[in-house]
Amino acid sequence: MQSKCLIFLAVVSLLAFSYLLNATAIEEKAAARTALMHARECEKHLGPLPKFRYEDAIEIPITQNGKRVIVTADNIGKNLKSCDKPAAFGAPCQLGNRVGRYQGIKANGSPNPDVVFVTFFRDGGLGVIGHNIKTGATCFLSVKDEVDPRQGLPTPDEPKYNKAWQSPTVVGRDGCVKCHMADPFLHSPWIDQVRDPKNPDKPLVPLIADVDSPYFVIGKEFPAPPGRKPGAIHATIPKQLEGNMCVACHAPQCVPDFFNVKLDELKMSAPFHTMEMETREQWVKDREAVREYCRSLDIQYFD
Ligand code: HEC
Ligand code: HEC
Repeated sequence: MQSKCLIFLAVVSLLAFSYLLNATAIEEKAAARTALMHARECEKHLGPLPKFRYEDAIEIPITQNGKRVIVTADNIGKNLKSCDKPAAFGAPCQLGNRVGRYQGIKANGSPNPDVVFVTFFRDGGLGVIGHNIKTGATCFLSVKDEVDPRQGLPTPDEPKYNKAWQSPTVVGRDGCVKCHMADPFLHSPWIDQVRDPKNPDKPLVPLIADVDSPYFVIGKEFPAPPGRKPGAIHATIPKQLEGNMCVACHAPQCVPDFFNVKLDELKMSAPFHTMEMETREQWVKDREAVREYCRSLDIQYFD
């Protein structure tokens, strides 16, 4: 009798427990937004997302002793042992990566000069940053790992958008803003080799940051860039950096040690044509003060 009772109790509690587990799983599912839901939110701030194409993007050169290495079907994706201007992040001398740029459009199809989208085809994947220069609204997008972005990608108005693009939870967890911190776009001597065909004295990646430029990230799944108040449009300059030269032109930008190129050691201001290092005493001192501040933020780059 007693053992029957115990079994009954065990079964009941097991059922209750699995019900509870299920309920939280369903709740989480309901709360997790799809890539399409996030894309629609982005479109409210940026206008319709363009069709992002590999063919529209420009190859980022890899040179060795000033000579460009030609990309072929055989060597594409290969990471060379050395090159003149390594990528700051990821495989330093990888062949065949591309960067592209689109001007935004308004819902009625007319051009919107305030909005820019930048595509980055790297290491077989694709990351996209959409930014409204006037309002600061910024979207980070990324295709799923198993998707080859060179094969053509759906816009939000086309079927299977969610099959190709990562959900905002996944992109948010990637921590784009930990590196894309001072402003949406990061410059390096490698990526700045690609010039804007419409304006060849400028890099293709927009140069827009000043210390007050608006920047906030769309999507509740995305944390605020380090050191910024959640929801704030402008960066907070911490007390200890007042008067520091490094915050004269743009908000503090942290550069973790694992970068192939310590961008903060390069001579400012960008765009970076060369790998020339900053050696002036006061600048080096100010750079150290920014690094000290960065350490105080305790940013975990990879969990
Ligand atoms: C660990 C640092 C780091 C993280 C995290 C990171 N990026 Fe970047 N990203 C860079 C750097 C550095 C560059 C400049 C190219 C270079 O030299 O590597 C860059 C360049 C880009 C570009 C080209 C435009 C530009 O700003 O130069 C895009 C688009 C981009 N990243 C998207 C993303 C997205 C989307 C995420 C999150 C899913 C992300 N990145 C996360 C470091 C990072
Ligand atoms: C004269 C203006 C100016 C000063 C002063 C300056 N920078 Fe920059 N810096 C720039 C510009 C312009 C860029 C290009 C990037 C942009 O739009 O954010 C840049 C880019 C960077 C980057 C690469 C990441 C990125 O956002 O592209 C780092 C890191 C950086 N600066 C650190 C520093 C440090 C550290 C100091 C102080 C030693 C400093 N900067 C002083 C103008 C300046």
